[in-house]
Amino acid sequence: MIIVTIKRVPSGITGLDNLIQGGFPDGFSILVSGSPGVGKTIFALQFLMESARRGEAGVYIALDQRIKDIRSQAKQFGWNFQEYEAGGFVKFMRPSKGSAWDRNIAETIKGSKIHHEILPVIRDSVGEIDAKRLVIDSLSTLTLSLPRGFGDGEVRLFLKRLLDEMKSLGVTSVVTSDLPKDSKWLSRDRVSEFVSDGVIVLDDVVFGEDPVRILRIAKMRETEQDRKGHFFKITDDGIVVEV
Ligand SMILES: Nc1ncnc2c1ncn2[C@@H]1O[C@H](COP(=O)(O)OP(=O)(O)O)[C@@H](O)[C@H]1O
Ligand SMILES: [Mg+2]
Repeated sequence: MIIVTIKRVPSGITGLDNLIQGGFPDGFSILVSGSPGVGKTIFALQFLMESARRGEAGVYIALDQRIKDIRSQAKQFGWNFQEYEAGGFVKFMRPSKGSAWDRNIAETIKGSKIHHEILPVIRDSVGEIDAKRLVIDSLSTLTLSLPRGFGDGEVRLFLKRLLDEMKSLGVTSVVTSDLPKDSKWLSRDRVSEFVSDGVIVLDDVVFGEDPVRILRIAKMRETEQDRKGHFFKITDDGIVVEV
């Protein structure tokens, strides 16, 4: 067997790294998908808090919620992001109406071309604080903003460019995708799972009368992963995976 040592990035999710040989391979894009309320945003925040605590910077592109609400959601778990934002270790970015991002999407829809124009927005945010980690929450909101006429092929090309760009920036990233309950796909756009390096599916199911949450690693390139589903809990300290 050839043993190749890959640098691993600790996920920050309690119990997860044991299932993936110590963490996400450095520079990978990990898709975290699941139905609403299952814990995707908490996962993404926990991933960024881990890097901030290690003194590495991270960028959070907030497409679904206001930054104010995300900060207060994080505080529930004792994660005070403002402290790290002040220190230059975390940057939240929410494209607002009329922002470069927003204009680019509008122009793209008009011109019906793939909007690689949004890529500089990500590049600048990452460059500004020399980020090592990136979150896009959610990727489904981004792909839903693509022109209506886009088929799977165009969406795939767009996502491929986005992920290539993230790779060239050298960041390890978590991107989230909303899944309708009982979906047989792994992402809302049905394409992200093919282009991302790893896919983690979060699910909540009801066993008898007890609702339980289950985490499953559906894909992790270059990693011998545990393929079983694992129970997880959302505790006062964030997500804890039971091994
Ligand atoms: N302090 C807490 N303790 C336990 N569970 C919590 C706590 N705060 C939030 N939750 C759970 O987390 C869910 C929200 O998680 P979130 O990451 O925002 O979901 P998603 O992004 O997948 O829609 C809530 O529906 C709730 O079940
Ligand atoms: Mg969310």
